[in-house]
Amino acid sequence: MAASVASVLGFAEEPVAERNPIAAAFGFPGAYWWEADYNLQQPHRYASFDAGSVSGTPERRPDARRYSSTAPAWFSGTTPPKKTFTVKPKTPPLTHLDFRPRRPLGKGKFGEVYLTTHQPSGRLYALKVLHKRLLYNSKLRERARNERRINGALGPHPFIIRMQYAFATERCLCLVLDLAPCGELFQLVKVAHPWKNGKTKPGKFPEQAARFYVAECLLALEFLHERRVLYRDLKPENVLIQRDGHVCISDFGLSKPGVNHPLRGARSMCGTPEYLAPEILRGSHEHGLAVDFWCLGALFYELLDGYPPWFTKDKKKLLERVARRDLELKLPRGLKPKLSKDGELCLRALLHRDATVRLGSDGDAQAVKDHPCFGMVDFQGLAMRHVDPPFLPTRFVADLRSDEEVLWSDVKVDADRKLQRMDISDDRFDEIFAKFEYRGERDVLLEEA
Ligand SMILES: Nc1ncnc2c1ncn2[C@@H]1O[C@H](COP(=O)(O)OP(=O)(O)O)[C@@H](O)[C@H]1O
Ligand SMILES: [Mg+2]
Repeated sequence: MAASVASVLGFAEEPVAERNPIAAAFGFPGAYWWEADYNLQQPHRYASFDAGSVSGTPERRPDARRYSSTAPAWFSGTTPPKKTFTVKPKTPPLTHLDFRPRRPLGKGKFGEVYLTTHQPSGRLYALKVLHKRLLYNSKLRERARNERRINGALGPHPFIIRMQYAFATERCLCLVLDLAPCGELFQLVKVAHPWKNGKTKPGKFPEQAARFYVAECLLALEFLHERRVLYRDLKPENVLIQRDGHVCISDFGLSKPGVNHPLRGARSMCGTPEYLAPEILRGSHEHGLAVDFWCLGALFYELLDGYPPWFTKDKKKLLERVARRDLELKLPRGLKPKLSKDGELCLRALLHRDATVRLGSDGDAQAVKDHPCFGMVDFQGLAMRHVDPPFLPTRFVADLRSDEEVLWSDVKVDADRKLQRMDISDDRFDEIFAKFEYRGERDVLLEEA
């Protein structure tokens, strides 16, 4: 009896349906040569497989004849095949060797973001590295998992950074994101203010310009809320500027899937102090999608004023001011021309401490769009990027052509960080991040997330 090709080539003898669904469909119990010849003869990852061009060896032919009653006539070799099948072989897993980190773009709480080249395609991306060591409790691990899940489940949107790949290495979790090469909106407000000739003092945006950026963020929030995602981390550091001056939001580290109520659905006390909604501050209460409209109001305010609402450097005092119901909102000062009445009303309505009456609580993003402050904004045109941004970036955060390189071995946790508590050989990681890998297709329905 001739040895099976599978055993000669050292393949495991798995059920045919798993090994080769096409062969199984034709009822061949032992058609190893499909895979064997494919693997030996086709160097490409996705190759068109012409079944008729495979000529069997004497060992294979008797097998083929034995099963020829269930096989189509061309299988015996007498009739030429009519169909060409495309066989999609298993793709090898993504690894860090597919990417070349080039230079740091930013720093996050659990790692860094690097400009990176995808080696096979030569394309540039942003690589967000989360160090497993720093995800030392289950909440932080859940956070990283949510970030990966939400990023993977969202479809494309013009104002949301898209994840293209994700993979895990022994020490890190890596998210490969579309590159926003012109930095953060934060830098525009605080550092290189376009209306003040790059002065390093916090600047004030003209109302019309501020309204443009807020409107783009509003469209992004609408998209997320329709998919039941509470974003929770809108702030100028997370609003990134694209090459053409449009903005897009990134960083789903604090986001929560499965929230579809303006006041309920989330409990964790998290956020950025300057942008924390009063209902989160109160702690014991649940909060919901209305939190994002508070942050939108705070972003609008900061763009106009240069500082967030009720700002003081003392964080404790700041939180007290936000929580105090009797403390009036001071309008942004020094604006030329002055803030319009509609702009003022919109700011007050978004920054209403009572989430039940806050703008957006009833009617979500549509209610904000319908506010007279946005009356002149063409949201349809905006969504199609037909509206010109108020400012065209002239500088990139990194020299995209430079040959600078960061070695993977240097992508490591800062030595002086105190938080290096997690044992990365802990098998809880394997459980939680078993399906971390991602390759650009939408993979998880948010309802399931
Ligand atoms: N896609 C991107 N393109 C360019 N820079 C980015 C990108 N993503 C993140 N960054 C930079 O890295 C910083 C930290 O990334 P972020 O995702 O916000 O991390 P964290 O969750 O720790 O806040 C950002 O503020 C930004 O400056
Ligand atoms: Mg961030």
